Amino acid sequence: MKNVIGGALSKLDKQSVVTAYRRQAPIYDIVFGVLLHPGRIGTVKLINQTAQGRVLEVGVGTGLSLPRYRKDLRIVGIDISDDMLRLARQRTREKRLGNVEALLNMDAEQLQFDDNSFDTVAAMYVASVVPHPDRLMREMQRVCKPGGDIFIVNHFAEDGGLRGTIERRMAALSHKLGWRPDFKLAPFMAHGTLEILARYREPPLGLFTILHCRNEKPAAVAAEQEAAAD
Ligand SMILES: C[S@@+](CC[C@H](N)C(=O)[O-])C[C@H]1O[C@@H](n2cnc3c(N)ncnc32)[C@H](O)[C@@H]1O
Repeated sequence: MKNVIGGALSKLDKQSVVTAYRRQAPIYDIVFGVLLHPGRIGTVKLINQTAQGRVLEVGVGTGLSLPRYRKDLRIVGIDISDDMLRLARQRTREKRLGNVEALLNMDAEQLQFDDNSFDTVAAMYVASVVPHPDRLMREMQRVCKPGGDIFIVNHFAEDGGLRGTIERRMAALSHKLGWRPDFKLAPFMAHGTLEILARYREPPLGLFTILHCRNEKPAAVAAEQEAAAD
């Protein structure tokens, strides 16, 4: 089965995501560059206003956001698609982005970083693409320091109205689209213990939302991680 721009996506599993983004990589910036740019610009602007130290960008894609980060921040990007990462690395070289520490092939659902490795974590247009959003949430919280910031940009489906109806109908096409149009905010947030500090609706048509969250780790988890670090 093909998705709308040619990727094989019979279901949202790891291999089908890799295959889809192999096909999408060469045209990704043209198709999704401008369309998804407001959420990216808005997120990096917020990060630049607040962040210190190390930032992890999960599902960094072709690295469209990378040139916008403050130069004193150290950025690590991960993605599951080598084809997308190749373009991110090329951008980093061409623009001489010395603040990009590493661009690594890694599964966001199973991050190869120690607990509390990052001050800030961002996931832009990734939550409704990964096969298991619960694992993404758990991993983002684990690698982010307690009290650190987590930024999530995504389309979140609505319950009612015309938009809700369209989203519910489109959900049947998830396997073709390569993302879930009926991806809802509340069940996703219920997978973790994030506190939403602010939310911003972004163009086009307010379809995308930036969530600025605080990484509130449950006391038991924080204590366990501290003990392991000693
Ligand atoms: C819609 S693109 C967004 C890319 C980028 N964040 C942007 O703003 O353009 C989704 C990205 O998530 C990556 N991705 C999907 N599942 C992933 C996973 N399990 N682990 C890491 N990256 C993943 C895809 O390879 C793709 O590059």
